[in-house]
Amino acid sequence: MVDKNNRLTTSSGAPVGDNQNSITAGNRGPTLIQDVHLLEKLAHFDRERIPERVVHAKGAGAFGYFEVTNDEISKYTKADFLNEKGKRTPMFIRFSTVAGEAGSADTLRDPRGFAVKFYTEEGNYDLVGNNTPIFFIRDAVKFPDFIHTQKRNPQTNLKDKNMVWDFWSNSPESLHQVTYLHGDRGIPATYRHMNGYGSHTYKWVNEDGEAFWVKYHFVSDQGVKGMDESVADEIAGTNPDYHTEDLFNSIDKGDYPSWTLYVQIIPYNDFKDYEWDIFDVTKTVSKEDYPRIEVGKMVLNRNPENYFAEVEQAALSPAHLVPGIEASPDKMLQGRLFSYSDTQRYRLGVNHEQLPVNRPVNGQNNYQRGGYMQYGDHGSNINYEPNSYDDAPKEDPDSKVQQFDVEGEVLQAPYPNADHYTQAGDLYRLMSADEKDRLIEAVVGHLGQCTMEEVKKRQIGHFYKADPEYGQRVADGLGMEVPEDVKK
Ligand code: HEM
Repeated sequence: MVDKNNRLTTSSGAPVGDNQNSITAGNRGPTLIQDVHLLEKLAHFDRERIPERVVHAKGAGAFGYFEVTNDEISKYTKADFLNEKGKRTPMFIRFSTVAGEAGSADTLRDPRGFAVKFYTEEGNYDLVGNNTPIFFIRDAVKFPDFIHTQKRNPQTNLKDKNMVWDFWSNSPESLHQVTYLHGDRGIPATYRHMNGYGSHTYKWVNEDGEAFWVKYHFVSDQGVKGMDESVADEIAGTNPDYHTEDLFNSIDKGDYPSWTLYVQIIPYNDFKDYEWDIFDVTKTVSKEDYPRIEVGKMVLNRNPENYFAEVEQAALSPAHLVPGIEASPDKMLQGRLFSYSDTQRYRLGVNHEQLPVNRPVNGQNNYQRGGYMQYGDHGSNINYEPNSYDDAPKEDPDSKVQQFDVEGEVLQAPYPNADHYTQAGDLYRLMSADEKDRLIEAVVGHLGQCTMEEVKKRQIGHFYKADPEYGQRVADGLGMEVPEDVKK
């Protein structure tokens, strides 16, 4: 007799009599359509896969907490979860690579996603950043084209260095991030050994309605460590899930990774005349001008119970903001505010915010109704507003966005600053002699796979403009000359 609490059932809860043999007409006869258990089992299996993320498809997730360590932070933001030293907020993080498919290798040269969801008492706050403080482009309208170059060639279905370098060489704003990517941080030793950055400039607003610009830096308490490309290539072949495994095993054995969160606070009016455009995500803001201020510590201490439910179905979005934290006019960020929740409505469905990993701890109190996979639908509560019911959800004027001035004409124009070379050159000059050697080797190795001569020449020109030594060394490595017109 099987224990009643432990019986195999169909999805509708009926006990299953035989899970080894389908129902056939006689020993050699065809299978009967009345074998509803078989039909259901196959039909469900046929639908097991959902679309993978269009970018950042390969990743690993973990849960933990964030604890505020600095009482002063509430001077800058009224965000509830940051308002008191010692306050702990549960959080989820997903680390990822960008370009590869869900089954691709962890150790490829690529930026890493660093996407944090804070389950605050005033809704989920998602900081969807990378392990790089900058990005390749600075306008959302270029993102789909950029990502196409990182994916597969439409004819060969192969990764294609011509596409990659053609786009980069024609988008010089990418030079800073291209340099970053081919340096030692381009392949982290593990997910634990990398920093995370919000990358964009965001806006913080305090209780008095005062606004500040803010940049986030999660600094790894494990230290920052890279992986040699030859080692990474070998691991990619022998253990493509190396970083996923490292994260899971560290947490599993109680070796909890942690990061210290710092912010750079930029006074509101500084955006008008700071030497760099603080809303241009291809540029950094100097730590000398705006020193890092400690905010708190993030500790990862729990692995997901189920990867699909908690990591694959996680929906992290820059649009998930909370009172006290707002968007800036960064044109990339503005595009992202739309794109994430949009893709999640497609990837997971319109009610994905109701899934356990995405559900806010303070509940969803609104007048949205229906949709596929609706779970509960707010019972018998009324479904419109304004209304005459005291106990129905009410808007909260304290949560309105901070008002700000806008100026100028409606236009389509790049950010005014076209100096893509100074910061890329500074990054090169900051590297040790050894790191410079590895950078040149990596660039030559990757750019060398491009077969378009004019692309290679154009890109050498960009490196040269960043730093003549940088350009010359890449040219030498490729057995090419620095173009004369660039040398002038
Ligand atoms: C994932 C779009 C720029 C970091 C995604 C996804 C989309 C997307 C559609 C898949 C989301 C999902 O299926 O759940 C865009 C667009 C961008 C942009 C349109 C520019 C306009 C950036 C930048 C960063 C970034 C600048 C970092 C600073 C990430 C991360 C993920 C992601 C970390 C993975 C989130 C997760 O782990 O679930 N992006 N992205 N993206 N993006 Fe972006």
